[in-house]
Amino acid sequence: MSFLFLSLSVLSLCLSCFIEANLSNVARRTFTEKDAEVKRMPLPKDGAPVRILLGDRPDTVTVVGPSHVTQFDFQNHKNEGNAVVLSKCKEKDCDYHIAVVQRTTKAEEVFLCGAAGQDMFACCMNLTDERPTCTSSKQTQPIDSTKGGINIKEGEPSVLVESGEKVDLYVTYSGSEEQVGIHRFGEHRVGPANTNKALERHYVGLLPIKEGGDPTQDKVYAFYRERNSDSELDSDTWLPFVSRVCTADVGGPKNNLQFCWTSQMNARLFCGDPDRKQHFSELVDVATVEAKWWPDTRVYGLFRNEWGMSAVCVYTMRDINNTFATSPFKDNKESKKRPRECVKDSKAISSDMLGIIKLTSEVKDWVRPENNTAPLLSNHHNYTHIYVDSSHQQRNDEHTVLFLTEQKGGIHKVLHVKTQTFVIAEYRPFNHSAHILSITLDPFSRKLYVTTKHELVQMDVGNCGSYTDGCEDCILARDPYCGWNGTQCIHKTHDSLQDVTGGDCTICEKPEKAQRHSRLTQADTSKGGHSVLLPAESRYFLSCPVSSHHAQYSWHHGQKSTSCTSNEDQCIFLIDSMNHEQEGTYKCMSEERGFTKVLSEVRLQMGNRAVGLLSGPLVWVCLLPFLVGSL
Ligand SMILES: *[C@@H]1O[C@H](CO)[C@@H](O)[C@H](O)[C@H]1NC(C)=O
Ligand SMILES: *[C@@H]1O[C@H](CO)[C@@H](O)[C@H](O)[C@H]1NC(C)=O
Ligand SMILES: *[C@@H]1O[C@H](CO)[C@@H](O)[C@H](O)[C@H]1NC(C)=O
Ligand SMILES: *[C@@H]1O[C@H](CO)[C@@H](O)[C@H](O)[C@H]1NC(C)=O
Ligand SMILES: *[C@@H]1O[C@H](CO)[C@@H](O)[C@H](O)[C@H]1NC(C)=O
Ligand SMILES: *[C@@H]1O[C@H](CO)[C@@H](O)[C@H](O)[C@H]1NC(C)=O
Ligand SMILES: *[C@@H]1O[C@H](CO)[C@@H](O)[C@H](O)[C@H]1NC(C)=O
Repeated sequence: MSFLFLSLSVLSLCLSCFIEANLSNVARRTFTEKDAEVKRMPLPKDGAPVRILLGDRPDTVTVVGPSHVTQFDFQNHKNEGNAVVLSKCKEKDCDYHIAVVQRTTKAEEVFLCGAAGQDMFACCMNLTDERPTCTSSKQTQPIDSTKGGINIKEGEPSVLVESGEKVDLYVTYSGSEEQVGIHRFGEHRVGPANTNKALERHYVGLLPIKEGGDPTQDKVYAFYRERNSDSELDSDTWLPFVSRVCTADVGGPKNNLQFCWTSQMNARLFCGDPDRKQHFSELVDVATVEAKWWPDTRVYGLFRNEWGMSAVCVYTMRDINNTFATSPFKDNKESKKRPRECVKDSKAISSDMLGIIKLTSEVKDWVRPENNTAPLLSNHHNYTHIYVDSSHQQRNDEHTVLFLTEQKGGIHKVLHVKTQTFVIAEYRPFNHSAHILSITLDPFSRKLYVTTKHELVQMDVGNCGSYTDGCEDCILARDPYCGWNGTQCIHKTHDSLQDVTGGDCTICEKPEKAQRHSRLTQADTSKGGHSVLLPAESRYFLSCPVSSHHAQYSWHHGQKSTSCTSNEDQCIFLIDSMNHEQEGTYKCMSEERGFTKVLSEVRLQMGNRAVGLLSGPLVWVCLLPFLVGSL
């Protein structure tokens, strides 16, 4: 019975190491709610949160839901919520539903938009008000009084474009209905042209780009996946696209693309690795890192494919702009004449040209990832959201930190440096399978805010204190948030030690050689000396904790060594039947990037058969839960 368990567990370990043979795809460490500081509070019951806004004080966030605004204070474990009062609904009661929340350029002010009864509403609210009142103003009035608006769906991307006294709201509509596309509300309402083709599109991101200089050239880019109309057996279900419209576009003249985009262009995105015959076509989410010079702005796209794999590809706005600037249009020779620049007065476009514009808006060339490279990351995890810490942009660091949520509630923290990625850790804030709706990082305190339908969770992802085993442990982590200050792994400062590019822990030796040696000897003496007396023929197991999934763990006894797989949280050595040959010192060692460490040391001695308190069956009883758990 026991042997069956053992061999099954060995089999399962080998299978899992076969699937994830490439270590760069395996999270180096796993942090559960016990290892990283996790605080949780229930969300108000008015529905899934629409937006999480970071407060100006640390440990505070504001959650705006469909009808409530709630301030959370994690330091004092307090929250206080209120129903939003719409100035529009003050006189007569009305049923409203907030669908869009955007910060405005004014301090502490948010713009809210949604449905009030059959109509759309738009107003602004000061978050610091005790009784949150959303007031319509001259700027929001054009959106507020929209006739024939759309019913904005939950989770649709939106952006607010403010210029002078004017405010425009861009919001997408996903699905397969007529309204599918980009909508603009404001002084000039513009929407998608009515096409007869029934297309199914799902929008995952909107990005406004102000090119500087001539404001008529400002654009809004949209990222989406479209159901493939090609129904051949081996064709992909989804195709990824980027689309753009000019903010100066007010639609065509009367009866000819009136109130419809005349500037819209679409281009396919490519994400894959032709050498390995892999490609990814289901665009799941995007995250953008804005740069000072707009062509350097990067878009990180999260993709899936039909074989259960995920990938991340990075695009630059320079490449996207160039594709739209130079690619011929698809299936249409006439389109050569179509202008690529935004025009000042779209109502003045000739009807010939409008005819050409109606024929096609898709360009032939695909937008390829930056430097035309393979995906940054591709593995067998099922990721659902991507978030990029862009605070490095201000510090001119070469690396980026990405957060990817997994379908079951895990979060991967991934380092991107040069052309490499490295999965620093997997955080597990939930002890059950959880569906994560959103993640938001406070880049200063390194606290990650995670929402599910019912909970708001704050998790410390700058948990440098988890690297307790000296300088090497801190450096091998390659965590850009952490550094070694000589005595401890702490939040990265200017003079703390780290090597994100190489994870080369020999840098530990230089500044403080003496300290390091004394530390090692100390560790050795504290871990040695542990001695166990075992009765003859008894069974026993030795275990030592596995922290890094990138290290090789092994038990050494005399000349012999036995390796463990790093997929489990313990490295186990079994003694089936104690005899004289098995007496002696056993050492558990780990090896990672050339750095070896003794983790524990045990001396086994054989005693008289009758003396042993550790009888065989008792030990097996301890062992069984472990084996069953690993299956
Ligand atoms: C692991 O993956 C990385 C990046 O995809 C690649 O560069 C490396 O060659 C792979 N290693 C092995 C052993 O397959
Ligand atoms: C909101 O209120 C705060 C504090 O009362 C104030 O400092 C801020 O300017 C207000 N914002 C707007 C847009 O009125
Ligand atoms: C991945 O997760 C998504 C969303 O939770 C789900 O719809 C999809 O079926 C999952 N894919 C696989 C291969 O498990
Ligand atoms: C963007 O495209 C326009 C043509 O539409 C071109 O004139 C311009 O140089 C491009 N900008 C960059 C930075 O490549
Ligand atoms: C593309 O190449 C440039 C210059 O060599 C480099 O700085 C950049 O990091 C590369 N980008 C990616 C995603 O590899
Ligand atoms: C999971 O976590 C919740 C909240 O922290 C706790 O109440 C519950 O007992 C935990 N369940 C298990 C099985 O540990
Ligand atoms: C390292 O940081 C810890 C915690 O902040 C501090 O107690 C210690 O003195 C620091 N060590 C050095 C050498 O600065």
